[in-house]
Amino acid sequence: MEAVDLDALAGTFEPGHLGTAITALSQARTAYGLIAQIGHGSARISQIVAALKDYSYMDRAAVQDVDIHEGLNGTLVMLQSKLKLGIEVLRDYGPGVPHIETLGSELNQVWTSLIDNAADAMNGSGHLRIRTRAAEGGVAVEIEDDGNGIPPEVLGKVFDPFFTTKPPGQGTGLGLNIVFNMIRGTGGRIDVQSAPGRTVFRVWLPPRRPDAGRAQDEAQGEVQGEAQDEAQDRAQDEAQPGSHP
Ligand SMILES: Nc1ncnc2c1ncn2[C@@H]1O[C@H](COP(=O)(O)OP(=O)(O)OP(=O)(O)O)[C@@H](O)[C@H]1O
Ligand SMILES: [Mg+2]
Repeated sequence: MEAVDLDALAGTFEPGHLGTAITALSQARTAYGLIAQIGHGSARISQIVAALKDYSYMDRAAVQDVDIHEGLNGTLVMLQSKLKLGIEVLRDYGPGVPHIETLGSELNQVWTSLIDNAADAMNGSGHLRIRTRAAEGGVAVEIEDDGNGIPPEVLGKVFDPFFTTKPPGQGTGLGLNIVFNMIRGTGGRIDVQSAPGRTVFRVWLPPRRPDAGRAQDEAQGEVQGEAQDEAQDRAQDEAQPGSHP
């Protein structure tokens, strides 16, 4: 609406009622603005919930065909607020990268830890490169940053539990140890190369977990699984008396 239209509109009111009309109009406008904002807010919340469900693999089987690129993208969405400041994310996703049969939510914890560490090392600005390739029937993933790097004397300790160079309250030193154990659980491997200005964590994941069937059972109920194990042990003991020392 133009100013001239407002003049014409004002002319339709008696001078004594004009103030009330303007107040009513402005309140209606504020109300419409708030309703629009609520609409945007709800859409944003449902986007966040959808991203969270994808990231955590909620409502999906524990062991499943995992699309590595989907997991990496979901993790980048989750870490958006930490990365958006001055970190440029460069995705170099290879062709023909196969899906792998593993625990999707665990894998996302791996990417989260590696990307979180890279972001810390770049201290708010730098380049995060994520590479994927089909390799040895599975998938090779590299998470590279151009932060300060890891000094040679501590390179061998980064996967140790509680090893951290971060100030108290900022790091527990458990991130990479958990990553190491999770990758070992997949039957894959992880290593690190670092020099000032270039640190690369290289992960290789096989096409399926060595214990694919068992992991599925565990996810269905550890307690039930333990009870069954005990029952099996008892049955074995009974069948082979004296087999325990
Ligand atoms: N990309 C990296 N660049 C430089 N140093 C790194 C990098 N990743 C890990 N580190 C070093 O390895 C240490 C151990 O990492 P780890 O993720 O296990 O623990 P943390 O990040 O200190 O704490 P948190 O338990 O919160 O993850 C870090 O404190 C840091 O010194
Ligand atoms: Mg960490």
